[in-house]
Amino acid sequence: MILDVRDLRTYFYTYDGVVKALDGVSFKIRKGETLGLVGETGCGKSVSAFSIVRLIPDPPGRIIGGQVLYHGSNLLWGIDREARITPIKNTGRAKIRRSFRRIKAGLERMSAVRGKGVSMIFQEPQTAMNPVFSVSNQLGETLLTHRGLEVCEELLRAADHVAELPAAIDEFFQTAQIETSSDQLRKAASRVGLAAQLPTVGTELYYVARQTALVGDERRREAFAHTTHRLRLSRARRSFLRWQAAMMRLKREMDDVYMAEMREGRIDRSSRTRLRALRLVLRARGLGYSIWGYRGWVRKPLRDELFWRSVQLLEGVQIANPVQIARNYPHELSGGMLQRVMIAMALCPDPDILIADEPTTALDVTIQAQILELMRDLKQRVGSSVLLITHDLAVIAEVSDRVCVMYAGQIVETSTVSELFRQPMHPYTQGLLASIPRFDRPERKLESIPGSVPNLIYPPKGCRFHPRCPYAMPICKEERPPTTLEGTDHTVACYLYKGPVAVE
Ligand SMILES: Nc1ncnc2c1ncn2[C@@H]1O[C@H](COP(=O)(O)OP(=O)(O)O)[C@@H](O)[C@H]1O
Ligand code: SF4
Ligand SMILES: [Mg+2]
Repeated sequence: MILDVRDLRTYFYTYDGVVKALDGVSFKIRKGETLGLVGETGCGKSVSAFSIVRLIPDPPGRIIGGQVLYHGSNLLWGIDREARITPIKNTGRAKIRRSFRRIKAGLERMSAVRGKGVSMIFQEPQTAMNPVFSVSNQLGETLLTHRGLEVCEELLRAADHVAELPAAIDEFFQTAQIETSSDQLRKAASRVGLAAQLPTVGTELYYVARQTALVGDERRREAFAHTTHRLRLSRARRSFLRWQAAMMRLKREMDDVYMAEMREGRIDRSSRTRLRALRLVLRARGLGYSIWGYRGWVRKPLRDELFWRSVQLLEGVQIANPVQIARNYPHELSGGMLQRVMIAMALCPDPDILIADEPTTALDVTIQAQILELMRDLKQRVGSSVLLITHDLAVIAEVSDRVCVMYAGQIVETSTVSELFRQPMHPYTQGLLASIPRFDRPERKLESIPGSVPNLIYPPKGCRFHPRCPYAMPICKEERPPTTLEGTDHTVACYLYKGPVAVE
């Protein structure tokens, strides 16, 4: 079990009252599987995703209970101590007193998990990217956060071999013909001795070769010389890289302490204090690097390296002209392109769990298929588990292994995809399935579920689906139905079924 969400409760304290957006949501994600989360718009899918990564907008939102266990560490560590909530009599509203110190502590711990542990593709890529930085800037920042240590170390190692580069480039220049296929060109680039140390050298040579295909040999040689130049590190630049690597190493140690804390629930004060002191010393040592202008100069090799790594990431999500796209700003890209950039960004730390919130909803159908294909590829390569959120059952059928059906802030049915389509149990699931066209049963009439999603400030008592349910019984209006196990891997929350109560 890689992620175990138990009894998650997230409320929004609005002026109209308390929106109980999630009211006891439990589900599990197993290693390497794709779990689909499906339900009508407004049923709490995005809120579930945001609660897992602790990104609920506060105010008005608060996670008020439950656990999110990731490899046994509770990601909701300390959430109950973050705020004191006292209901205001006869108003349906509440007064919230937050402790910002504790909120900050929670966010710090979460940063140990974000990226490498849990990574997220957001519903709207436009809002998730920063409009004032170029694509390569933002990808580079993500790379630095999650792979900074490797990048600095590899760059330093490669700099030791820079003397070999001119000869190697000459060799590349002789063997690589621009007319040859890009694959051959790339292979030629990777044979260059230094590229084995630093793969971006290969990528850079490849694109420089392509861009300078028509300008004549002399100019091409000059362009190649730039690559040599960027790897020739002065003493100041080397010591900056070493300092940056030390910062990254420290951050990693700190993350380990935080993970242990979330796992064991208690605070390891001594190692935390030690690491904090170390960080202070390192920061003091790096004060010189904060001088504007100087910082830009010492950081240049790292910046170049991050640029070419971003290009490699963009190649990974099959963007055709990655150098151009890397230099663009988010508003210059189409929705499908931005979605790819987001996927590249979410996957660069090789996450254990990828949460994809409606990754294809904003796109047209052909692009949708490409994006799904891309996610499937990348999942196979990296081996991560995926939580795929969508309101579209067709997408679920396409890529998921198991599926959770959500209604009004609760999970009503969980099963494997094939079984859910063959034998839907919950009346809501049956309604959802009856409302999509199926080619294998052309004679069937399409039906829609009567009524609409309830207002979650005053959710219906008992089973939240009872006002819309054709089978509603008296007990359904009184008490919430328990989640029962029907078959080996199929749970449902409905009084029509009498299986053993599933222990959550
Ligand atoms: N910022 C917010 N303020 C108040 N209510 C919110 C907020 N965000 C979400 N909600 C409520 O949470 C419920 C679930 O929303 P959401 O998770 O976005 O649905 P979806 O399943 O379409 O992703 C909605 O009913 C909405 O009213
Ligand atoms: S518990 Fe009752 S109201 Fe709810 S889905 Fe089942 S039959 Fe319908
Ligand atoms: Mg949503």
